[in-house]
Amino acid sequence: MTDILPATEDGLQRAAEALRRGRLVAFGTETVYGLGADATDAQAVAGIFAAKRRPRFNPLISHYASAEEAFRHGLAEARARDLAARFWPGPLTLVLRRVADCPVALLASAGLDTLAVRVPAHPLALALLRQVGRPVAAPSANRSGRVSPTTARHVLAEMQGRIEAVLDCGPCRVGVESTVLDMTGVRPVLLRPGGVTLEALEAVLGPVARAAEDDAAVPRAPGMLASHYAPALPVRLEARDVRPDEALLAFGRPVGPAVCLFQLSEAEDTAEAAARLFEGLRLLDAEGTRRGLSGIAAMAVPEEGLGRAINDRLRRAAAPRL
Ligand code: TXA
Ligand code: MG
Repeated sequence: MTDILPATEDGLQRAAEALRRGRLVAFGTETVYGLGADATDAQAVAGIFAAKRRPRFNPLISHYASAEEAFRHGLAEARARDLAARFWPGPLTLVLRRVADCPVALLASAGLDTLAVRVPAHPLALALLRQVGRPVAAPSANRSGRVSPTTARHVLAEMQGRIEAVLDCGPCRVGVESTVLDMTGVRPVLLRPGGVTLEALEAVLGPVARAAEDDAAVPRAPGMLASHYAPALPVRLEARDVRPDEALLAFGRPVGPAVCLFQLSEAEDTAEAAARLFEGLRLLDAEGTRRGLSGIAAMAVPEEGLGRAINDRLRRAAAPRL
């Protein structure tokens, strides 16, 4: 069911076309194989979470063919540009602020106002990114909780039938994921050690702070920080009705008439709903606030497939504020 595409002109072209059609295509980078989707297509990005069976929406890295393109979507000041000049293409991911009107799906940022960007060093990955002509969101191409794949065969063992194709880029050179560096604060913070060593980074930046695994103040696992994407209006979960002073986040047939309504998925499709979730919350929050409403009523979404990730996010959005 899942095609293995050879590292030929034809293979590349088919991989690029599938990505442009919103399909999932795994491809090799110098670090590990990534499970790619058009980063500007929220529904395609939602497909990544479904294929990986990720229980929550962790933010994803957007891959670019050049630093110039990456910095059109993420705001880079001098230090970030120095790092890019020194380490790209290569196994370094920079977490930057999203530009206003960033076309990358909010779901790829897990609703945060930051964007992780990387220019990979593998020639085939670069050729693919150039042909796609859009950023490609790609986590490691393994099922959630499993080991990252470093060959096309590894990818197939986990993803057979769940994705359109895997582009055979040979074995990965680096084999561990990229170093993730948060550049959004006063000082750079190492979020994940990886292919670029701390020593090499410090040679350019001077001392780099490390994020402790359990340091809740650092967005290592941004999903843990509800306040990052919690709307201003309180959220009421599993709503079976909607009050006159509430906005409604609907999933399927609305539980009542609402002055302000956002439909996650008329057809009750959790992948479609996942793709629209963060946008819906933002929209209802803004519109509800503007109209002086007192909260958002969220209809129940089934606790299965992407519904689990949706509910995780909704629960965090509804959790008491710090
Ligand atoms: O080498 C790699 O980085 C591979 C290849 C395919 O490029 N990709 C990869 O992706 O390892 P993934 O999804 O397995 O890991 C992405 C890491 C996660 O630790 C995630 O929390 C972090 O990057 N991350 C992504 N966006 C972030 C953001 N906006 N803020 C903070 N951390 C972010
Ligand atoms: Mg991973």
